[in-house]
Amino acid sequence: MLTASRISIGPFVPEDFAPLFCWANDVAAAQLDFAYRPVDMMTHQLWWNALGKDATKVFFAIRKTADPTIIGYVQIGGINPVHRSAELGIRIGAESNRGQGCGKEALGLAVEFCWNHLNLNRVQLVVFKHNHRAIAAYKAIGFKKEGVLRKASFIGGAWVDLVLMAALRPAKARRKSPSTKALVQMLNDRRPAAEIAAAPVQRRTA
Ligand SMILES: CC(C)(COP(=O)(O)OP(=O)(O)OC[C@H]1O[C@@H](n2cnc3c(N)ncnc32)[C@H](O)[C@@H]1OP(=O)(O)O)[C@@H](O)C(=O)NCCC(=O)NCCS
Repeated sequence: MLTASRISIGPFVPEDFAPLFCWANDVAAAQLDFAYRPVDMMTHQLWWNALGKDATKVFFAIRKTADPTIIGYVQIGGINPVHRSAELGIRIGAESNRGQGCGKEALGLAVEFCWNHLNLNRVQLVVFKHNHRAIAAYKAIGFKKEGVLRKASFIGGAWVDLVLMAALRPAKARRKSPSTKALVQMLNDRRPAAEIAAAPVQRRTA
């Protein structure tokens, strides 16, 4: 489980299934996310059962701190080991849980997971141009607009432009372990590894 101040993201449990099924059939939320099509229980169940066997996808349940009830999910899909890229999506299920910072925190954790655990280099997404809250949340955690796909979706009776956004792995690689140089130094040194790793590297002078 990965935790932030308001929420955590982690695995799904059987109790999550009913809310997930309701959200899949939420027409209003679909106006912000995808073209609505009713989902039947059997199809929904088969889809979620197959999820764990698909190495190109990682889904997390979002829960508020100290409350086991699922409030949404964040999805990482299209994981490509050659290009080291993936696509991101998110849904906070109920309007009453939106606009409290939970979405931003969940996105932040998911993106960190992409850099630190999947070793990805690029995470991208498309968002409806009218979904200002989602665009603000993506921007807040470092996504940049890369372009607009004009009239790319037909949603609720009208054509909708899609905004393509992406985040690239931060230039400063998050190296948690000491460098090789620091490890060699550590073998010849009695200082703790963390102290050696934190010390500035001495540059060789001509
Ligand atoms: C999009 C979504 C994940 C955002 O999560 P959230 O918890 O509601 O949003 P947060 O509270 O974390 O804040 C998001 C940002 O939007 C801003 N915001 C909030 N309401 C807004 C509104 N009505 N219009 C524009 N910006 C808004 C917030 O101020 C914040 O930006 P800031 O950091 O610059 O202040 C969530 O609202 C949601 O699931 N919506 C329905 C499904 C959806 O749209 N999914 C995304 C599909 S691409």
